[in-house]
This record gives sequence, C-alpha cells and structure tokens, in this order.
Amino acid sequence: MWLNKDIVSIGDFSKEEILEVLERSENMVSYAKTGHPEKPLRDKIVATLFFEPSTRTRLSFESAAMRMGAGILGFGALESTSVVKGETLIDTVRIVESYSDVIVIRHPMEGAARLASEFAQVPVINAGDGAGQHPTQTLLDLFTIKRELGKLDNICVGIMGDLKYGRTVHSLSKALSLFKIDLHLISPETLKMPKHILKDISTKIKVQEHEDLEEIVQDLDVLYVTRIQKERFPDPEEYKKVAGSYYLKTSHLQKAKKSLIIMHPLPRVDEIPVEIDNYPQARYFKQAAYGVPVRMAILDLILRGE
Ligand code: CP
Repeated sequence: MWLNKDIVSIGDFSKEEILEVLERSENMVSYAKTGHPEKPLRDKIVATLFFEPSTRTRLSFESAAMRMGAGILGFGALESTSVVKGETLIDTVRIVESYSDVIVIRHPMEGAARLASEFAQVPVINAGDGAGQHPTQTLLDLFTIKRELGKLDNICVGIMGDLKYGRTVHSLSKALSLFKIDLHLISPETLKMPKHILKDISTKIKVQEHEDLEEIVQDLDVLYVTRIQKERFPDPEEYKKVAGSYYLKTSHLQKAKKSLIIMHPLPRVDEIPVEIDNYPQARYFKQAAYGVPVRMAILDLILRGE
C-alpha cells in the first residue's frame, strides 16, 4: 500500500492513512534528534528537485533522509542545472529517477508534481506546486495540532491570510474536512478560498467565512496564519492593496482562549509580530521542527513500505 506511493495531493490519502502517518511520526520524534539507530534507508537516495526557493521543506526532507541513513542529491541554484539550457521538467525527472529512489519536487507550476509522477518510475513527493498543494506540510500541520492540542476532532480552527494563493491552506482545509472540525476562513474578499475547495469542504464540515479575525478569535482552538503570497500575484498593484492588511495583534490574544495554539507554515513577513513569539500560544517554530519526524516517517513508508 505504501511502497512507492506518490504523494501529490492530500486528497490521495484516506483519513486512516493520515492517522497512520501521524502515529509513525510520533515514533520518529526521538530519532529526529539522534538519528535512527538502524539507519533503515542506508541503501536509498533521496533527490530534492527544488525549482522554487525553500528553507524548511527542503532542509527538513534532507535532515529526515540523513537521520534515516539515506543519501541526498539535489541542485543548489537552477542556474547550475541544464534547465537553463532548455531541458524540460519531464526530461529532468527521467534523468534524476535513474540516480535516486524518490524525487521530492517543488515547482512554481500547479500540477508539476502530478506531471512528474506520471513520468517517473520512482515515487514523487510534492513539496509544493505553485498555488496548488503542499501535502507533506499538511501532514506536519496535523501532527502539530494532534501533539499540541491532543486531538484532531471537536475543535474550532481558524485559517487566516492568503487563502487564494496559499497552497498550504488548500491542502490543510481539505485534510481538516476529514475530521470533526468547525472551520473559520478569515481573509480579505480578494483572497478568499477558491470556490472549488470551499464547495468540496463545505459538504463535509461546517465552514464560515469572515473578513475580520475579531469576529471569531475568542472561539478558536487553532489559529493558522499565512503569508500573503506576493510571488503569485499576476499584478503587483493588486498585492500592494492587500499587503500588510492581515496580521495578528497582541490585542487579539487578550480575547483568545489561553489554550489557543498559533501556527504558521513560515516564512512570515509581517503577519505575526516577533513579540508574539514569546507567547505560550506560539507554536510555529515547534511546527517547523516537526517537519523532520513527519518526513522521516513518510520516507520510511514510501521507500520500505513499512
Ligand atoms: N513551509 C514551507 O513550505 O516553507 P519553505 O518554503 O521554507 O519550504
């Protein structure tokens, strides 16, 4: 079931499969610091093809691979590859699959990971495709909620910011719709959740849209904040109209539950001021750290099937 499975969309997972990844991630938490003693992936090579910038996803995949004993290959800057000579994504994938056992790909084009998976003989993991999906981020987001709140059901979740272009929130809202969640989407009118996603999740759980966090902050168990995705705006003037308009204030937290957890996939720009980092509700750095055990579990499942 798991061996050689592509991870392109969170929709490729059943609820049971998601829970299995989370359980296995829990087993990896201690090894994320020390390394897995058996180095079970020592004969495997993980290729990281990042056609867009990344800090957390790339480095946590590489750290996860190393903690499991696997080798890593990937390019630094696109300028150092044959992409600049005009090599296509498909040809690049066909070459890299012959050098590795799994391809982790990030690409600015929505659908690029699906395309790569159709041509590659080795499994492909989507590390973010344009404004499409970021399924492994969602798995670590769910892991964070489960670990920090102790449950994934019967909670009230707010997702705030750029819901139009933010791929992390597209994947996350789909995954949350598998659980008993009261979901609140907070964004400016121009950055609302795409209609096809809203329609899909609204058939499964209660979803309410808001333009102001003040309307709902007191009810939330989780507040997931996202950056406005400047790089995805076709018109820079449209970005300027919303830049800096959505951010968390300390006054919001005075109204919030003490048990609220604040999450963010990072990087942040100005939507969470640094002074909030010291609040007990801030969990975004812990969330980023969970990327290692969760990706250790994912690589183990895909490369060994167990
Ligand atoms: N959360 C996330 O995808 O971060 P990076 O862009 O740094 O990988």
